[in-house]
Amino acid sequence: MIRLCLLLFLFLSTSAYAKGDQEMPAMHHLYKVEPSKEISIPDDFPLNKNKEIDCQTCHGIEDMKQQDFEKIDKKSNDFFREGPYDKITDFCYRCHDTKPYQRDNIHKMLDEENKIIKKTCLYCHEKQLDPEDDLEKSELKLRLEPENICYGCHLDIPHFNALNHQIKPDDEMQKRISDYEKEHKIILPLSEAGKIMCVTCHSPHELDVISQNKPAGKQVVNNDLDKGITYSKHKWNDVFNKDKKDRLNKFNLKSSKAHILNYQRIEKEILLRLPAKDGALCLACHEFEK
Ligand code: HEC
Ligand code: HEC
Ligand code: HEC
Ligand code: HEC
Ligand code: HEC
Ligand code: HEC
Repeated sequence: MIRLCLLLFLFLSTSAYAKGDQEMPAMHHLYKVEPSKEISIPDDFPLNKNKEIDCQTCHGIEDMKQQDFEKIDKKSNDFFREGPYDKITDFCYRCHDTKPYQRDNIHKMLDEENKIIKKTCLYCHEKQLDPEDDLEKSELKLRLEPENICYGCHLDIPHFNALNHQIKPDDEMQKRISDYEKEHKIILPLSEAGKIMCVTCHSPHELDVISQNKPAGKQVVNNDLDKGITYSKHKWNDVFNKDKKDRLNKFNLKSSKAHILNYQRIEKEILLRLPAKDGALCLACHEFEK
């Protein structure tokens, strides 16, 4: 899968332009290719005249190319054909074989004896760092800027709310964040440009790679890494899926509550710096009206 990830990255960045004048999203899946034997396209996923995968193979929205990409509703049920899918990978598996597709979970960084598996570090760091050291940002030797390091393996919208959070908090929120970090001895790191990134909320490391006595080592764990973050279906989920757009927008306008929590209830968490289940993570930055 790592190979797939890299291929995805390289391949897709070279085919980033659509025929129209709109620029295709960076790192988009390839299209206008005839599927090889490795791929099994479901019968009701239409190919184009040349028997290639094309916009309508994957997207249920009509005339995808003519849509305004900026305004497209990625949460609509038919954004992905026959959606919605619980996980984006469930969609990938409609065509790709699951087996060769299973990826090494690089977040599993410790072996049975709780020793560090060096090669997992090297996905992101140029060398294996000593977790005992006190390191400056410049000494982390990251292969990519921290705001980009998760892409290639994870999509840029792994979940609702991930993308719209990649902005710079205002001064008031910045102060709130740094007070929170000091008081609770955790880190909620922002990018060089001061923006929120994946690792602001998520820890990339398995628990105990970095000592829990250190701010960077503090994280929530109540699930194992094979299961990941798990959810229980909530009755909101049906409503959400039926007429997401209208209802949810109305709901969000009326309340400044955490809307993630309202369509899927998080059951167990992992790789998060603070629990989101009870809103603690959100409250490090937000002040929700009661
Ligand atoms: C093999 C499946 C596949 C094909 C073919 C395909 N797409 Fe996509 N498309 C995806 C996936 C998967 C995503 C979601 C990417 C993500 O979440 O980061 C996506 C996302 C998009 C988005 C939203 C991107 C964003 O992040 O704003 C647009 C717009 C889009 N596709 C347009 C098109 C158009 C136009 C075509 C035809 C030229 C096309 N797609 C062909 C799978 C496909
Ligand atoms: C409609 C079917 C379809 C869906 C859905 C789909 N793919 Fe693909 N994918 C293809 C086809 C066809 C190719 C071209 C390679 C081939 O035919 O073997 C391809 C190629 C790729 C490649 C390049 C691999 C290589 O060996 O060249 C990657 C990476 C990839 N897909 C990832 C994904 C991911 C991630 C998703 C889900 C977000 C996804 N695909 C969903 C049909 C699909
Ligand atoms: C998925 C990417 C990724 C992987 C894999 C990874 N790291 Fe990191 N690491 C980061 C990022 C991003 C930071 C900076 C933010 C932070 O501290 O969480 C970091 C920070 C660190 C720090 C500094 C923590 C501090 O006290 O500030 C140490 C030490 C470290 N990593 C060690 C490791 C070791 C050891 C491994 C292998 C077991 C590893 N990392 C694997 C992305 C990664
Ligand atoms: C504002 C905080 C925040 C940011 C920023 C954020 N996440 Fe998340 N992430 C969460 C929370 C909370 C969950 C738990 C599920 C949920 O609430 O949707 C989660 C869940 C996940 C999951 C599990 C999803 C699943 O379906 O099981 C993945 C993977 C993930 N995040 C990756 C990322 C990546 C990659 C980025 C950066 C592009 C990112 N996250 C940015 C808070 C965040
Ligand atoms: C080399 C590939 C790779 C990189 C880089 C990577 N991840 Fe992952 N991540 C995985 C795999 C594999 C899993 C296991 C689940 C899966 O297959 O989706 C996973 C799982 C997760 C989960 C738990 C998801 C779940 O299934 O509930 C979170 C959260 C997550 N990653 C966040 C991040 C963040 C944040 C970064 C960047 C600091 C990152 N990952 C970088 C490959 C990667
Ligand atoms: C690291 C700080 C940070 C964390 C943690 C955080 N947020 Fe945010 N959030 C922001 C910023 C900055 C904005 C944009 C400014 C604003 O609307 O206040 C934002 C905006 C939002 C919005 C409005 C989105 C939109 O499209 O207008 C919602 C809803 C939201 N956050 C919910 C959550 C939830 C739920 C959590 C916890 C899972 C969370 N946030 C965690 C900083 C954060």
